[in-house]
Amino acid sequence: MNITIVGSGYVGLVTGACLANLGHFVLCVDIDETKITQLRTGEIPFYEPGLNEVVQKSREKGRLTFTTDIKEGVLFGNIIFNCVGTPSMNNGSADLSYVFSVAESVAEFSQGYKLLINKSTVPPGTAQKCFEIIHTKNPNSQVEIVSNPEFLKEGAAVHDFTHPDKIVVGAKTDKAFALVRKVYTGRVRTYIPVLETSWETAEMIKYANNSFLSTKISFINEIANICDVLGADVKVVSQAMGMDYRISPKFLNAGIGYGGSCFPKDVRALVATAASCGYNASLLKRVDVLNTNQKSLLLTKALKRFGSLSGKIFSVWGISFKPKTSDVREAASLVLIQGLIDAGAVVNVYDPVAMDEAKSIFGNSITYCTSLEESVKDSSAIFLVTEWDEFRNVNFAELGKQMKEKVLIDGRNIYEPVLVKEEGFEYVGIGRR
Ligand SMILES: NC(=O)c1ccc[n+]([C@@H]2O[C@H](COP(=O)([O-])OP(=O)(O)OC[C@H]3O[C@@H](n4cnc5c(N)ncnc54)[C@H](O)[C@@H]3O)[C@@H](O)[C@H]2O)c1
Repeated sequence: MNITIVGSGYVGLVTGACLANLGHFVLCVDIDETKITQLRTGEIPFYEPGLNEVVQKSREKGRLTFTTDIKEGVLFGNIIFNCVGTPSMNNGSADLSYVFSVAESVAEFSQGYKLLINKSTVPPGTAQKCFEIIHTKNPNSQVEIVSNPEFLKEGAAVHDFTHPDKIVVGAKTDKAFALVRKVYTGRVRTYIPVLETSWETAEMIKYANNSFLSTKISFINEIANICDVLGADVKVVSQAMGMDYRISPKFLNAGIGYGGSCFPKDVRALVATAASCGYNASLLKRVDVLNTNQKSLLLTKALKRFGSLSGKIFSVWGISFKPKTSDVREAASLVLIQGLIDAGAVVNVYDPVAMDEAKSIFGNSITYCTSLEESVKDSSAIFLVTEWDEFRNVNFAELGKQMKEKVLIDGRNIYEPVLVKEEGFEYVGIGRR
């Protein structure tokens, strides 16, 4: 099939490259000329494990091409995936202007029967609005709208595309459902459920999914904060909770809050969507507030330990919002680093892949290091922010020799306090000592 992807970011590029790998001919469109120029020369604009191989393979076979021309894109695909961003607006609601502008272009340029598939995360009611945009602009349009939210995780996106837990499709006609199944032939296997439902339900499933995971994280973070004041160990508490099959151990690691381009904005968007219909989503509002507070926790702990931070050197390990990605959107590291700068501290940072992203935010106000060893020189504390594998097994006794004061503030509870202390460090964890 000929498939067009509009929006060639994390979701669009992974979807496009993986669909090309399934044998489809895919044209990826983006308004960002730099991104398209990079992609045309085989350069991937962000770090995502395994993506480079899939992109190169599909390019070599001539099944994956790139353009900035939306008209060309709309004319090319019988199937058009809408994968543009839906960022938060100031009031928390999703900015749908990019999604609607794609619908406008499809109304303007499309000829004949096509599916416009919304893969971006959008509030319930958005497919209906896209339908209205298209049919107001072009009453004879034969374009059908489909909602097909994406559940891939950055850092495991290629694997998640090929091994999804579920495929959710919202549509109005049997033909649309059948075409989506055809698009995903090769991805759909007997053990992967395809849920076929209405537009609004498909759209709501994505928000419910992300809001639940965010709630689970804020829940265990609240338990951790209570453990902190009571002297209990949240790691053991969450391990025991996870043994209850009704709870499951996933997303029960206490830490310094969730970040990324999805959870924070999706929780806020669902709260705002509910409010626009007169419902006060009080639980989800608290989930968001708890998460915002949790991102300042490392700074609070440092102020408690050191008093003034002014003039001291601190080493921050990890900038990306989670391991295996270069994405720093809404990362907890940004709150910590800005707080340290504001408190007059000198900040050394190290991340295996997200240094360029940090430079574009903090410029010359912090020091960018090429190794953990370099980052700890003369420092008063290490802040572990992102739990990259390479941070898990470090020789603290050796690193400590270069430090002014040996304090480890473990924002993800990845170290064994007893061993770290044996290596001469003071250990500060989240809900454990
Ligand atoms: N990143 C994830 O892990 C993830 C997972 C599931 C769902 N989602 C959802 O998918 C959507 C996209 O997320 P993302 O992380 O890929 O965003 P992104 O910012 O990485 O990519 C969006 C791309 O769309 C392009 N764009 C914007 N307007 C355009 C237009 N009119 N025409 C062509 N291109 C346009 C931008 O230049 C950008 O490259 C969001 O709604 C997000 O919530 C993201």
